[in-house]
Amino acid sequence: MRRQFIAGNWKMNTNRAAAVALAEGIAKAAASVANVDLAVCPPCCYLEAVGKALAGSKVGLGAQNMYHEKEGAFTGELSAGMLVDMGCKYVILGHSERRHILGETDAAINKKVHAALAAGLTPIVCVGELLAEREAGKTLGVIQCQFAGSLAGLASERMAKVVIAYEPVWAIGTGKVATPQQAEEVHLALRKILAEHYDASVAEGVVIQYGGSVKPENAAELLGQPNIDGALVGGASLKVDQFLGIIAGAKENR
Ligand code: PGA
Repeated sequence: MRRQFIAGNWKMNTNRAAAVALAEGIAKAAASVANVDLAVCPPCCYLEAVGKALAGSKVGLGAQNMYHEKEGAFTGELSAGMLVDMGCKYVILGHSERRHILGETDAAINKKVHAALAAGLTPIVCVGELLAEREAGKTLGVIQCQFAGSLAGLASERMAKVVIAYEPVWAIGTGKVATPQQAEEVHLALRKILAEHYDASVAEGVVIQYGGSVKPENAAELLGQPNIDGALVGGASLKVDQFLGIIAGAKENR
């Protein structure tokens, strides 16, 4: 049985005080949330401070990126082991901003996915098409290709621990949310791809989040779709009441 999983991606926002206040607000409110997994992913420089603010709460800590090597001369990078050491349970990998602004490839993301899983982190692996790709009818082909590249070479037990986030690039930070039907179509396709590459039990077990302009007003309808298991939330995760409004939209039982 899949549980809903709502994660906040704070991106390059907040400062130390704002990050701690946001984490404290979410941690407090999360005490009354049942049957929904929760996480926040602050900028890496605030992981430790946010981790302290979340201590003893139901909210997991996640990072927004990492490098695949364990250690060494990789200036500016962080390893999976370092994230674990900071208290992280999750790491977002292959976010569209990293793919399209910072040039990350499926091959690079794939190395990170393997390294994250080896270190015991749960990777939240993002896939999603550009507007031009959607308009050209290429959405499912793009998703298939990103799946095959970013998630190559994982044994079933490893794949079962991955969270996939479908984030259409045209819906991220634009206010243009995918309709529940558009999102569900891709989520169902991802589940079929999982069944083809693995088996029915892996396909049924993997949590697939939707991301892209999720707000309290549209959360319940999106999260009510049979193959949408949660949300990766950007802008609306920076306000306690909005993030809580999205959590309230998560179906508590399947
Ligand atoms: P958004 O971002 O909710 O601001 O559209 C989602 C994401 O990029 O993960």
